[in-house]
Amino acid sequence: MTAPLVRIGIASAAGAALVTFGGCDLGHKQTTQTGYRGAGLDQIVDLKHIAKASAIPAPPYPLPPDGGPTAGQSYQNVKVLGGVSKERFDHLMAEINQWVAPPAQGCNYCHNPENMASDEKYTKVVARRMLQMTQAINSRWVSHVKQTGVTCYTCHRGNAVPANKWALAEGTPDPDTILGNKHGQNTPNANVGYASLPYDPFADYLNGQHQIRVAGNSAFPSRDHKVSVKTAESTYGLMMHISSALGVNCTYCHNSQSFRAWNLSRAQRGTAYYGIRMVRDINEDYIGSLQSVFPAYRKGPHGDVYKVNCTTCHQGVSKPLGGISMIAQAPALKGPSLPPAEPEGGHAVATAVPAAFNQPAAMTGKK
Ligand code: HEC
Ligand code: HEC
Ligand code: HEC
Ligand code: HEC
Repeated sequence: MTAPLVRIGIASAAGAALVTFGGCDLGHKQTTQTGYRGAGLDQIVDLKHIAKASAIPAPPYPLPPDGGPTAGQSYQNVKVLGGVSKERFDHLMAEINQWVAPPAQGCNYCHNPENMASDEKYTKVVARRMLQMTQAINSRWVSHVKQTGVTCYTCHRGNAVPANKWALAEGTPDPDTILGNKHGQNTPNANVGYASLPYDPFADYLNGQHQIRVAGNSAFPSRDHKVSVKTAESTYGLMMHISSALGVNCTYCHNSQSFRAWNLSRAQRGTAYYGIRMVRDINEDYIGSLQSVFPAYRKGPHGDVYKVNCTTCHQGVSKPLGGISMIAQAPALKGPSLPPAEPEGGHAVATAVPAAFNQPAAMTGKK
């Protein structure tokens, strides 16, 4: 009589083990020490995940040499890439086809095959703005993307609409209902690692210019430095997003002795600082300008276009695509050499560490 019971016991123990360990990532890990010895400041990565994240498509055909007539001379309606040679323009079109267009539609996703010069499809109008945006990222935001740069593939990965994006969150429930008004928090949400933190840190911090701070600069709240418990919680919400987007711990950027002090932080925090400003620029100046171009079915629950956050490019790794650069295969996306963006303290800091690293006064003050 006991044997079946024992068997049930073993089966349920095995079941429990499956449930318990099912969430663990098996496979080979690589550990990199990021801080003082013995402090547990390690970055642990799953090599298989990195290998998967860095799979890039082969170019459609080898990049043709530069020279010959330009696209502007050869075609009728080329507004951004007019100075690029025709051969390289055609190559880029074939790449964009591979990176963005659904295979069933190909060139026709953006073009009327009867008239390639026509702008009648909204997708072509969007793509032209995306060309300008990608060039701006690569030329003005070297402080973030370095020489690695980005292409359409960094965000799109073969999809017409990138898999990772955000729009204003669904409204909070009506305070009169039995659910009460949760003020945009206390609802498990992947954006903030399923914590009870405010789940839409994006609108204020990645589209707006709100300060990312947990403590004010003065003993009493002032109008200049609006820092409240709620903004502190939103700051943590954003930090949860940043950590999961990059697949790292807080200590990849911060020293837990003081999360605020720049002089104790790792250089990666400086890169992240410019990343935040770059994402604001992308969302406000480029994607935001397409609000009237996108059809309603491409917009979020509140009717705003989908925007970019750290996951759009990073997708769980500290350098998108494992740090592989695709820009050599698409030199036209480097763009004209524009002056670097000036987030704060003049262009001198745009390629160095933020002013906040050197000047304690700037650490707390401006945005
Ligand atoms: C994701 C959208 C998109 C896809 C897919 C796409 N194109 Fe384009 N194409 C554009 C944009 C945007 C322009 C205008 C670029 C500019 O203004 O600098 C353009 C312009 C052109 C032009 C110049 C037409 C003229 O006379 O002004 C040609 C030719 C062209 N594309 C060919 C192709 C071919 C061939 C394919 C498929 C292999 C393709 N395109 C796929 C977006 C796209
Ligand atoms: C920084 C990330 C990023 C990069 C780089 C990027 N895109 Fe996009 N793209 C987006 C997002 C986000 C959307 C979705 C907007 C929406 O649906 O509201 C989008 C939408 C589009 C669409 C509209 C698709 C549809 O079906 O509605 C086209 C076309 C497009 N992008 C082309 C391009 C091209 C071409 C490039 C490279 C020159 C490029 N994108 C580079 C983020 C990016
Ligand atoms: C990829 C780098 C990075 C990671 C990972 C990261 N942070 Fe941050 N953190 C920053 C940057 C950059 C700022 C400053 C933002 C600004 O000023 O625009 C910041 C600001 C903060 C602040 C505000 C400090 C102040 O001045 O009031 C706190 C608190 C904080 N982070 C906590 C965390 C926690 C907790 C985690 C882990 C869940 C985390 N961070 C993960 C880069 C990072
Ligand atoms: C348009 C694509 C894109 C977006 C969006 C983006 N990044 Fe990056 N990021 C990159 C690229 C490309 C690199 C690699 C640069 C290099 O080779 O050093 C990078 C590198 C970094 C690094 C340095 C990693 C290291 O190990 O040295 C940090 C930190 C980082 N990004 C943080 C962020 C944060 C935080 C956000 C969101 C606010 C963000 N990124 C959004 C493209 C992007």
